[in-house]
Parts: sequence; C-alpha cells; structure tokens
Amino acid sequence: MGYLELTFFLSCLLIQLVPFTVAQFFPKEECISDRGNYTNDSTYQADLNSLLTSFSNTQVEYGFYNASVGEVNGIGLCRGDRTVDTCHSCINNSSQDIRRLCPNYKEAVLYYDFCTLRYSDRPIFGTEETSPYYPLGNTQNFSDIERFTQQRDELIHDLRGKAASGGALRKYATGDSTVNLETIYALVQCTPDLDEQECDDCIAGLSSQVADFLKYGRGGNAKAPSCNFRFETYRFYDPLPDAPPPSPTNSSRPLPNDATAGDGMHLIHPCFQNITDCF
Ligand SMILES: *[C@@H]1O[C@H](CO)[C@@H](O)[C@H](O)[C@H]1NC(C)=O
Ligand SMILES: *[C@@H]1O[C@H](CO)[C@@H](O)[C@H](O)[C@H]1NC(C)=O
Ligand SMILES: *[C@@H]1O[C@H](CO)[C@@H](O)[C@H](O)[C@H]1NC(C)=O
Ligand SMILES: *[C@@H]1O[C@H](CO)[C@@H](O)[C@H](O)[C@H]1NC(C)=O
Ligand SMILES: *[C@@H]1O[C@H](CO)[C@@H](O)[C@H](O)[C@H]1NC(C)=O
Ligand SMILES: *[C@@H]1O[C@H](CO)[C@@H](O)[C@H](O)[C@H]1NC(C)=O
Ligand SMILES: *[C@@H]1O[C@H](CO)[C@@H](O)[C@H](O)[C@H]1NC(C)=O
Ligand SMILES: *[C@@H]1O[C@H](CO)[C@@H](O)[C@H](O)[C@H]1NC(C)=O
Repeated sequence: MGYLELTFFLSCLLIQLVPFTVAQFFPKEECISDRGNYTNDSTYQADLNSLLTSFSNTQVEYGFYNASVGEVNGIGLCRGDRTVDTCHSCINNSSQDIRRLCPNYKEAVLYYDFCTLRYSDRPIFGTEETSPYYPLGNTQNFSDIERFTQQRDELIHDLRGKAASGGALRKYATGDSTVNLETIYALVQCTPDLDEQECDDCIAGLSSQVADFLKYGRGGNAKAPSCNFRFETYRFYDPLPDAPPPSPTNSSRPLPNDATAGDGMHLIHPCFQNITDCF
C-alpha cells in the first residue's frame, strides 16, 4: 500500500470510529427505565398516543410543543432556525420513532438534529433538565486548539446569556467569532418554558458535562432535554424564519422581532403567550 492509499485507508477507518458528520448519529433515543413501563392497551398508552397524535397534527409558529393528556406530559422543541414545516415534520417523525425506539417506556427522550421530543408521567414543564445528555464531537484537530477552545467557550458563554433572556416563546441565539482566520459558529437554545436563570444554568451544566468529550475538535453538538448547543467552523444554521404576522386578537402582546446585536449575534424577543395562542 502506498502512502496515499494508506492515508486514505486510515481516514476511512477514522471516519468509521469518529462522528465526522453529525447527521448520521441521529436519531438518538434515551429510554428512561427508572419510571417503569406501561402495558399495551393501558390508559397510559392511549394517552401517550393521543398526545403524540396531537403533536403530529399541529403546526406551531415558534417550534415549541407542550401538552398533557391524562398522566402523560410531552414537550417538543425544534431548532430555532427551522421553518414551521420542517419543525412539524421533525416532530411528526419523532412522534412515530419515539414509540418504536422506546416501546412501553413511561418516559423517553428522542434527539434529532432539528428537534427534541420527550414525554413522561412526571411533570416536565418548566423543569430544567440536563440529563440524559448526548454529546457528539467532531474530533478533527485544530492548529491552535487551546485558543480555539477558549474562544469557543467565550462565544457559547455569551450566547448563553442571549438565549436565556429570549423570553417565553423562544430562547435561542446564534453567533460567530473568529480565531486565527477561522470562524467558529455556534448555536445555543433552551426550551422556552425555562426561566432565564434556568436556561443559563442548563447550558452551563450541559457545557461542563460534555467538556471532556468536546475538548479537542472543530465541531460539537450537545443535547439535553431542556437545552442544547452546537458549534462548527462552518455556518450550519439559517437566519431565523420569518416572524408570523401580527395577531389581530391582542394588541397588548409584544410582537417577536429580530434584534441583531454586535459580533453577528441574533436573538429574538418573543411574545408571552402559550403555543395555542400564538399562531
Ligand atoms: C420495559 O420494557 C422494555 C422494553 O419492552 C424492557 O426492555 C424493560 O426491561 C422493561 N422494564 C421493566 C422495568 O419492566
Ligand atoms: C406491545 O405491542 C407491541 C406491538 O403490538 C409488541 O411488539 C410488544 O411486544 C408489546 N409489548 C408488551 C410489553 O407486551
Ligand atoms: C421525516 O421523515 C421523512 C421520511 O423518512 C423524511 O423525508 C424527512 O426529511 C423527515 N423530516 C425531517 C425534518 O427530518
Ligand atoms: C408523519 O409521519 C408519518 C410516518 O413517517 C407519515 O406517513 C405522515 O405523512 C407524516 N405526516 C405529516 C403531516 O407529515
Ligand atoms: C489536538 O492537538 C492538541 C495540541 O495541539 C493535542 O494536545 C491534542 O492531544 C490533540 N487532540 C487530538 C484528539 O488529537
Ligand atoms: C389582551 O390581553 C390582555 C392581557 O392578557 C387582556 O386583558 C385583554 O382582554 C386581551 N384583549 C383581547 C382583545 O383579547
Ligand atoms: C404546558 O403544559 C403544562 C402542563 O399542562 C401547563 O402547565 C403549561 O401552562 C403549558 N404551557 C404552555 C406554554 O402551553
Ligand atoms: C393556552 O391557550 C389555550 C387556548 O387559548 C387555553 O385554553 C389554555 O388555558 C392556555 N394555557 C395557559 C397555560 O395559558
């Protein structure tokens, strides 16, 4: 084997071992056994089915699904830059997949790149949860990894504050930062039912939980039930989808708007309403 062939062979081997492209590693299911199982044809199963069916049949403007049916509480969160259609499709797919991947579990979390879906018999609305978390790292090294990591942490820290202050409908922020002529792009998001402090804590907690895993690398994606973040050296997110038209039903409600802060950060100040009211 020549040098080139060997290099190629080793690269292929590395690709087998290492998540270079994040997309291949979703969906990732977390079936929680602590809560026990439901039986087929139980009320719990019927309620879970009707909750997930209602998610599948609903489009929401800001990518946050929340409902309770009987004992079952469910939450769905789409990545902030996804359109209503993509979000709905991701939630619909997850609603099918979660039952297939975690059959008979009373609690489960399913991570896709574009959305997170979870349900439980516990109250989960407004609770900050960083576990079970799921980190995915791109372990391609960076020339000045220490500087890169420091800059990345500062960027995520900055975005954490922006996302946390996003309001009751969408807690999401993206931004970039340049180090040694390369740009780091990052995205930070919490479920909007968290308050500002909880969102901040969630991202901080998740960051420290996955720190070792994402130590060396040009990219990483970390998911938790209540928050997530991702960074790459390419721009992997889109501008925010268009804000919905102003609602005629209530003029006292502040409208979401796009505020572009310095150093390329984008955040929104959404209105205070529940999902059923906001579209
Ligand atoms: C729950 O169901 C799953 C899948 O059917 C099974 O693997 C698991 O052992 C069950 N757990 C309990 C506590 O019965
Ligand atoms: C529930 O039903 C499904 C599909 O009918 C079956 O595959 C599964 O084994 C059943 N689970 C239990 C715990 O009986
Ligand atoms: C949902 O699943 C369909 C069929 O597998 C796929 O074509 C589509 O891209 C999925 N949607 C999302 C948002 O991933
Ligand atoms: C939801 O997903 C199912 C199965 O993947 C698919 O058959 C159905 O068309 C989807 N519905 C919508 C509204 O996308
Ligand atoms: C990445 O590079 C740094 C120093 O440049 C080194 O300490 C570290 O071990 C490298 N990591 C990997 C996974 O190769
Ligand atoms: C608008 O919202 C305010 C505060 O929630 C409420 O008092 C008022 O009745 C609402 N107006 C309409 C037209 O719904
Ligand atoms: C979400 O569901 C919980 C439980 O039913 C409820 O207390 C909460 O008000 C809901 N929030 C929204 C935004 O719909
Ligand atoms: C959310 O909106 C629906 C429909 O307007 C209403 O029935 C429900 O009580 C609201 N929930 C909360 C927590 O405001």
